Amino acid sequence: MPGMQEDSLRPMRWTDIDDLVRIDALLFEHDAWPAATWWAELRERPRRVYVVATGPDDRATAYGGLDVAGDVADVMTIGVSPQAQGRGLGQRLLDRLLQIAREAGVEAVLLEVRADNVAARNLYARNGFEQINVRRGYYQPGGVDALVLRRLLETPKNARGG
Ligand SMILES: CC(C)(COP(=O)(O)OP(=O)(O)OC[C@H]1O[C@@H](n2cnc3c(N)ncnc32)[C@H](O)[C@@H]1OP(=O)(O)O)[C@@H](O)C(=O)NCCC(=O)NCCS
Repeated sequence: MPGMQEDSLRPMRWTDIDDLVRIDALLFEHDAWPAATWWAELRERPRRVYVVATGPDDRATAYGGLDVAGDVADVMTIGVSPQAQGRGLGQRLLDRLLQIAREAGVEAVLLEVRADNVAARNLYARNGFEQINVRRGYYQPGGVDALVLRRLLETPKNARGG
């Protein structure tokens, strides 16, 4: 859109929590995080790294989080508010999380996705994530499978095939 400013990415702050709770509730029907969970995640810095995308008013419109645990990192969550979907924010957040993982020396990034979440599965597939396991009936209610996906990062060790 002409004249439209691109959203910027920055680390999450506690003042984002109200917006994150509201967006998360719109995106994850039964698995939405209450404010206490966001507070707890912030307390786990620097192991947990959360990034938000913000509009011109500096309010969060999208978010993504990573748990960095040595050789392995997990994508904790990624979400784009419904009005902001479909214009590349999910991809930019995932790029940033992968960059953070790479800089931390991570070799493999793991995540879980609902088998029925077409948009997220496409996003991860186009970013080189491959299915390594299935947790049958993981998401309740409904008993939807969780697919465990993995993306290997280009580290010296992985390049050696080791
Ligand atoms: C999944 C999600 C984060 C994608 O964010 P987004 O900003 O809308 O996605 P982008 O615009 O960056 O699109 C990147 C890619 O994602 C996939 N994608 C995004 N929306 C899609 C849709 N509605 N249908 C199919 N694929 C879709 C496509 O592969 C797309 O690439 P393409 O445009 O070249 O086809 C977003 O839909 C969302 O927040 N969903 C609800 C929460 C959720 O499911 N999070 C993931 C939990 S594991």
